[in-house]
Amino acid sequence: MVKASDFKGKHFISMRDYSREQLEFILDTADEMVELEKKGSDACKGKVLASLFFEPSTRTRLSFETAMFRLGGNVTTVADPMTSSAKKGETFEDTILTVQNYADIIAMRHPDDDAALRAAKVAKIPYINGGSGTWEHPTQTMLDLHCMRYAKGRIDGNTIGMIGDLKHGRTVHSLLLALRHFDVKVKLISPDQLKMKTDVIEGTGGRIEISETNDLKSVLPELDVMYVTRVQKERFADPAEYEKVKDAYIVNADLLKKGKKDVVVMHPLPRINEIAADVDPLPNAWYFRQVKHGIYARMAIIGLALGVL
Ligand code: NCD
Repeated sequence: MVKASDFKGKHFISMRDYSREQLEFILDTADEMVELEKKGSDACKGKVLASLFFEPSTRTRLSFETAMFRLGGNVTTVADPMTSSAKKGETFEDTILTVQNYADIIAMRHPDDDAALRAAKVAKIPYINGGSGTWEHPTQTMLDLHCMRYAKGRIDGNTIGMIGDLKHGRTVHSLLLALRHFDVKVKLISPDQLKMKTDVIEGTGGRIEISETNDLKSVLPELDVMYVTRVQKERFADPAEYEKVKDAYIVNADLLKKGKKDVVVMHPLPRINEIAADVDPLPNAWYFRQVKHGIYARMAIIGLALGVL
């Protein structure tokens, strides 16, 4: 039986670490946050979140910080690595050893794939992975699952298409690992150069049916959820390679006519060209509503790690 105290004082690093029961416990806690977000709360009164973002971010940083404010806590932040001692060559391990003297919990984003695992080794306070290179982005997955459950009523029973840059996209790595616990089918849709990493597919342990294709149209009629992602320009060593694949999939209103009428279109954002603006007014467009679930999910994750919920 999972209980709130199981999460107290713990890091939040990878979707590899959680069972279905634990994921559902966090999602149910996020449900409780919907009311709390409206009413306000002082559950985190006197607590400080250090938000350290060494890579660009709008939603993740702002929603971590807003989540802390909604719980009545305070925030100290480094949003621009150019203004911190990282610029002077300080390792992030040393940054964490320093910052944990100021704060009760850390949320961090870093360009290195191994940043979250390295940070977790040295942090004495809960460390939350807000994106670790191309590796994982587990809090995004909690908001994605929370939004999906809300939009479709349940996660089980759905056929979920992940579309775009499945190689470099950390959101889809964490999402696929989490979905291994649910009764879902997953269609991985990407250009051949941007296929899902094999270690992530192996990480699902063969528990769900996964198929791969580069042809979105061929699987579109089967999809209940389309999880569209940006081609991650900043991860390409050769700009010419990016140019070849950047517009591989463009989801527009015309294309959606070939899909299920009630298909839910999600995207972690930012979007570039992969979802056309003519999708925005359709009831299928969930990506901006999805953002709101980031507050609920992150309130739950922070509150559980601090042992105040
Ligand atoms: C994603 C990220 O940073 O991995 N954004 C986010 O956190 N919502 C997706 C992306 O940058 O493409």
